[in-house]
Amino acid sequence: MIKIAPSILSADFSHLADEVKKITDAGAEYVHIDVMDGTFVPNITIGSPVVKSLRKVTDAVFDVHLMVEHPETQIEAFAEAGADIITFHVEAAKHSHRIIQQIHAAGCKAGIALNPGTSLAMIEELVGDVDMVLCMTVNPGYGGQKFIESQLDKIHMLYHNLHDLELDCDIEVDGGINAETSKLVRQAGANVLVAGSAVYGAPDIAQAIRDIRGFDIEHED
Ligand code: DX5
Ligand code: ZN
Repeated sequence: MIKIAPSILSADFSHLADEVKKITDAGAEYVHIDVMDGTFVPNITIGSPVVKSLRKVTDAVFDVHLMVEHPETQIEAFAEAGADIITFHVEAAKHSHRIIQQIHAAGCKAGIALNPGTSLAMIEELVGDVDMVLCMTVNPGYGGQKFIESQLDKIHMLYHNLHDLELDCDIEVDGGINAETSKLVRQAGANVLVAGSAVYGAPDIAQAIRDIRGFDIEHED
């Protein structure tokens, strides 16, 4: 099943509760929350207190994307604040397997993210333990960047690896997703689509979400 996860990075932060309501009313399955620390990526964005405040105004699934060094220091704070899914970057972690255990112990689903320059080999020993793999389709740090087409082969390969291993693991894509690139990543096997500027920058948010969701699609072999 395709799930749409609009990123509130492109929302108006002065009206964040209303901005979240707009996407949940429009049928988005997840609220994607981009956490940046100014070190792993250049930007600084949202911390766990903001997630805690948003938790009071919605029951939506919070999909927290940690773009931070030392992700193990943030897990409990985000879980207690109301995160449902916590994804961290394999490039930022020394003990990835332990962090996955930590996320599960905190009561959340665990995701592992890969930058465009990171090979699937980095997560080979981890895919059996995560609920989701996030393939970045831009270099993380900013909204509104151009989709990197070379990532389609990686997504396709991951889809087949997971299928061969009979693993029930979501494939999330993040960066430069719009109605056109959505089709490409869905064909390659992605089923959770993050979109920031293509949702919040659209005149009609519900229509933008429908366009990104698209129609049922046959996977490539
Ligand atoms: C980028 C973030 C993304 C970003 C996507 O580092 O992880 O979630 O908000 O924004 P768009 O859809 O505008 O590329
Ligand atoms: Zn993200």
